[in-house]
Amino acid sequence: MCGIVGYVGPRPAWPIVLQGLQRLEYRGYDSAGVAIQDAKGHLHYRRAVGKVTGLAPANSEDFPQGSVGLGHTRWATHGRPSEANAHPHTDCQGRVAVVHNGIVENFMELKAQLLERGHRFTSETDTEVIAHLLEERLDRGASFVQAFQELGGILRGSQAVAAILRDTRQICAMRLGHAGGVVAAYRDGEAIVGSDLPALMPLLKQGGQTVEVGFLESGEMVVVDSKGMAYQDLSGHPLQKELRPVSPEEVLIDKGGYRHFMLKEIMQQPEAVASALRGRVDFQRGRVVLRELPLSLREIRSLRRVLLLGCGTSLHAAQVGRHLIERLAGIPAESESASEFRYRRSFVDPHTLVVAIGQSGETADTVAAMQEARDHGGRLVAICNVEGSQATRVAEGTLHMRCGAEIGVASSKTFIASLVILNLLAVYLGQVRGELGEEQAATEVDNLARLPNLLGQVLSDVTPYPRLAQKLDSFHNLLFLGRGINAPIASEGALKLKEISYIHAEGYPAGEMKHGPIALIDRRLATVALAPKDSLYDKMVNNIKEVKARDGMVLAVASEGDQELASQVDEVIYIPQASERLTPLLATLPLQLLAYHVAVRRGCDVDQPRNLAKSVTVE
Ligand code: AGP
Repeated sequence: MCGIVGYVGPRPAWPIVLQGLQRLEYRGYDSAGVAIQDAKGHLHYRRAVGKVTGLAPANSEDFPQGSVGLGHTRWATHGRPSEANAHPHTDCQGRVAVVHNGIVENFMELKAQLLERGHRFTSETDTEVIAHLLEERLDRGASFVQAFQELGGILRGSQAVAAILRDTRQICAMRLGHAGGVVAAYRDGEAIVGSDLPALMPLLKQGGQTVEVGFLESGEMVVVDSKGMAYQDLSGHPLQKELRPVSPEEVLIDKGGYRHFMLKEIMQQPEAVASALRGRVDFQRGRVVLRELPLSLREIRSLRRVLLLGCGTSLHAAQVGRHLIERLAGIPAESESASEFRYRRSFVDPHTLVVAIGQSGETADTVAAMQEARDHGGRLVAICNVEGSQATRVAEGTLHMRCGAEIGVASSKTFIASLVILNLLAVYLGQVRGELGEEQAATEVDNLARLPNLLGQVLSDVTPYPRLAQKLDSFHNLLFLGRGINAPIASEGALKLKEISYIHAEGYPAGEMKHGPIALIDRRLATVALAPKDSLYDKMVNNIKEVKARDGMVLAVASEGDQELASQVDEVIYIPQASERLTPLLATLPLQLLAYHVAVRRGCDVDQPRNLAKSVTVE
């Protein structure tokens, strides 16, 4: 969840590390810190509560001078956000600087032993034990690399660690388990180590061409200095790491003139759909062509079950996917939270297709659930937006979202891209299994082809949202209702509002309302009702009437031209008429825009809401 950046080379390290940390703030931003090694080899620390900008502006002249640096942006696990708990952490002699992403599961035990041996601690973090463990090994005469390597046999849990040592122009970084990514790159006398590709931007900008990067697997470490990168395992055996070329475009991030990344990403959704469809649809023949799916036609025909996994927004995508697979492919399907799946008996077998959904591909719960499913012989496919991420490496094959980087912590375009890919997958499975006739498949393909245009229509007039947001802002509690394939969209609308505006909201299948939540309804509760003209429309209208009969305020998302519904509710937002399979995508956009405008009105940090992180790499 935290972001790590290390630099060694000829340039001042401070601005480079700071820029890298700012690019990694999507991973956590409750405190930040940097250690710089000066020309004499001494380490200087700056740490602050809050975002990276709290450390000092990157262009200020007032920064520690030195060309080796290590920084961290934190998402607190052990110890509240405070300056003392901000990384880097050091040992009793201030000799090593350590940054860390993940959890040292045996830190209590290690800390007790270290205290007994006379070590003094200055923070509440688990990370600090790492600095003291290094100190002990250095005191016994171990080299920096040996001391660091030995950590691999001591630390339990999934994590990434990086360290620098006084008087040594090297950065050591290691990955244990699957929670914390580490990537390293070297070019012309300078090297950067980071949690993720955006940290490497300073190396890419310089040349404007691609740079070769290496991703660490669990149990691997890298030592970088101004001569290059050396990869090894935790026994010290050198590794021939396969490097991947990365272009500046792959990591370039800007707001494109929008006030927030989230708004930019919402507006990019028609493009995201087009990109997700590209090369996967034969429009002339009206067929879906999914070459990336790693299953033969025979294997697809022998599938008995599809299990869709994800967390948060990706879980909502999985829930929509379940409806699509059942309806279009005729295969029994289930969706489940990846964080719960691992703790049940799973009954996955080689006739089960497991579809793991995640924008980051680094969500610890999802990756762990994938491993569990794979261990049981399930056929494993990822739907993911980050190439080379953990999920893509665990899966047999990946259906890439191809959205470009999503920086807003609240997922928007990646959700829409997941839904498009799930539609494609369902149609493809239906085609192969003979569940969908040629004509029906062609109709589905035709509908998907119209989608970018339909989403563009929804986004073409956003003028009502500030007024609607003002109205919703006066409520402390909201209920989002939907039925059938739109029930997960109600949950998604509630999640968006909660996470960026901090207003309490619940998403509920509308049919469940009468089994409890109806007791909440009065004039102080607002209801957002998803009521497109689909097969469940009449039932949704009944639910809306039940809310109105109890003085609840109702904002409906309805199909264009539905004047009758408009006359029964307080507010209405129209979406274009479309196939039932596409209404979840169309209905999502107004809910994202509502959440966005409510959050802006309330002065919330839309792109980096409190307590959250873009990649949740802890379990
Ligand atoms: C969505 O807005 C949230 N940021 C969160 O629920 C997210 O979807 C979840 O943490 C899963 O992330 P993933 O898609 O990267 O696996």
